[in-house]
Formats: sequence, structure tokens, C-alpha cells
Amino acid sequence: MPKILVTRRTFPESAAALRASGAEVVIWEDSDAPSQADLIKAVADIDGLYAHITNQVNAEVMDAAPNLKVIAEFGVGYDNIEIAAANERGIAVCNTPGILSESTADEAFALLASMARRTHDLPAMVKRGEWGDFDPLGYLATDIHHKTLGIVGMGNIGSEMAKRAAGFNMNVLYFNRKKRNEEFGATYVDSLEEILERSDYVSLHNPLTPETTNMMSTDQFKLMKKSAILINTTRGPVVDQDALYEALKSGEIAGAALDVTVPEPIPADHPLLTLDNCLIMPHVASATGDTRMKMAMMSVENVLAGVAGDWPPYCVNQAEIAGNARIKN
Ligand code: DGY
Repeated sequence: MPKILVTRRTFPESAAALRASGAEVVIWEDSDAPSQADLIKAVADIDGLYAHITNQVNAEVMDAAPNLKVIAEFGVGYDNIEIAAANERGIAVCNTPGILSESTADEAFALLASMARRTHDLPAMVKRGEWGDFDPLGYLATDIHHKTLGIVGMGNIGSEMAKRAAGFNMNVLYFNRKKRNEEFGATYVDSLEEILERSDYVSLHNPLTPETTNMMSTDQFKLMKKSAILINTTRGPVVDQDALYEALKSGEIAGAALDVTVPEPIPADHPLLTLDNCLIMPHVASATGDTRMKMAMMSVENVLAGVAGDWPPYCVNQAEIAGNARIKN
């Protein structure tokens, strides 16, 4: 009987689907994620790991799990998994692509709209009883329509963002490693610098890699318009937060909305939380009930296929491990 470890709580439906397979299923039910030490202990005899962003699945974890065939990440980003170590050991790594793109783009666009139309700061002012008489020059916001949105990373989520922007009559530019055939009304520009210079809103949708770590730092903020707003729903380390703080404080850029930070959770005394022009959400872009349920069921499909010795449907390293895979069928 294969053994599966799920590193965070899951829906009753996904737990039931795992158990219905006949596998022995261990679900980490604590409100806190396992520490790395706990994880290393818990993986000793597992065949499948249903993993979450809250743990680093590195070579040490993999070496503590000699039977491990498959790591099914709950999420599209799998930067918390040491992919080179999985490749070396022939462990299949899977993710949940596609199904969360629309919910993630919904949130990214909501953040853009919130910063533009000041739903991030004016309601608090109303609650404080500070709403003064109607003032033609008061509480001014920024338009969304006919402004330019620069999308960095035109994958599934970036293209959903472009579709939403088109509905708001925005001009959309995108920068991607490769020019795409289907552009959803967006215009390709061939450098990050150009997109930063031309955009009123810059929304990041590229994965976190060594090349994109601190991709947005002092030099990049200098290129942006002083009126520009940055939206980050990808991964915290893509933005150099110290440089962002300086750029927001000094007026180098007008605002930022972040769904992701370094670290997560961001400490309550972090300097970014002192700024009125910075809106921070707790890494929830895919967090709707429907989407999270679909992600859970996709993770179940991946992990169950892997422990049965079959290629999981959403395997990201099949080509890399084909010669030494622990999966046999
Ligand atoms: C994702 O899907 O990558 C989300 O950020 C959750 O990890």
C-alpha cells in the first residue's frame, strides 16, 4: 500500500479521493506548516508527497524519502522544489497549471483597480470619520481606461490579465521571453526597460528563477513613470523590497500592490506596511473556494498517478527524468 503525505490541510473531497485509492494517507492538520525538521521525519517511508509553498522540498528532504516517486505541488509555481535534485533522483514533479489563471488574473486586476481608484485607502478614511464636504479637487484617483498596462510574463495568467485589461479599454504591452502568436490584443515589446518606461501599470506574471530574482530593483524603478503602479502576484523575491520601499517613499513610483512578499507572512513591523501607497494581500491570488478545490483535485490526480507508478498528467520534468524515473509505467 503506497503512503502519501499531504503537508497542509485539504478539502474533505480531496482527502476522500486520496483515501479511496487505498493509499495510506497522512494529512498534516496543524494550523502551522511542518518545520523542515518535521517534514524530514515525516517523509521517511512515503511514496508520494502532496506539497505546498510553505515548505522547501530540497535535496535533504528527498534523501530522507528513499521511496519517493512523485512530488505534487499544490500551485502552479514550484520554485520551492529543488528541481535539479528531483531530476538527479528521478522523482517526478507536478503542478496545477491553467485552472488558477483566471482567479489569479481577477485578483491582479482587482489590485490594479484598487490602487487606481483608491479603494485601498479611502474607505479607512471614511471609517475614521474624516470624509469632508464634497471637494472638486479632493480624493483624486487615477484612470484605468486608456492607460497603458505592461504585462511582464505572458503565460496563462498574463494573457488572462490582458483580456481583463482589454475590457477596460486599456492599451496593453507585454514582455515575454518569446513573442507569442496569440497576443489577446496586447503589443509585444522586446525589453523589460521599454515596458517599464511606457507603462502606467506594470503587472508581474513571470516565474521566480535565478534570473528573475530581484528583477525589479532600484534601476528598474528609476525607469518607471513617477505616476506608475506596480502589481506583483507572482513571487515575492522577484521584487527587491528594500528598493521598492525607497521608490515608494521617495515618489520614484506612485504605488505598489503585492500579493506576495519576502518573507511570507510579512512581519507586522515591516517598513512597507507603514506606507499608504502600498497595498499588501496575504498570497491569495488563487484563493477562491472553487479554484482551490480544482487545484486540490488536480494535485490528487498527480500524486495518485505517481504512486501507482504512472506518469502524472501535469508532470513538469518528464523529459528530464525519462531515463532514471522512479515511476515505471
Ligand atoms: C501558485 O499557484 O503558484 C500559488 O502562488 C500558490 O502557491
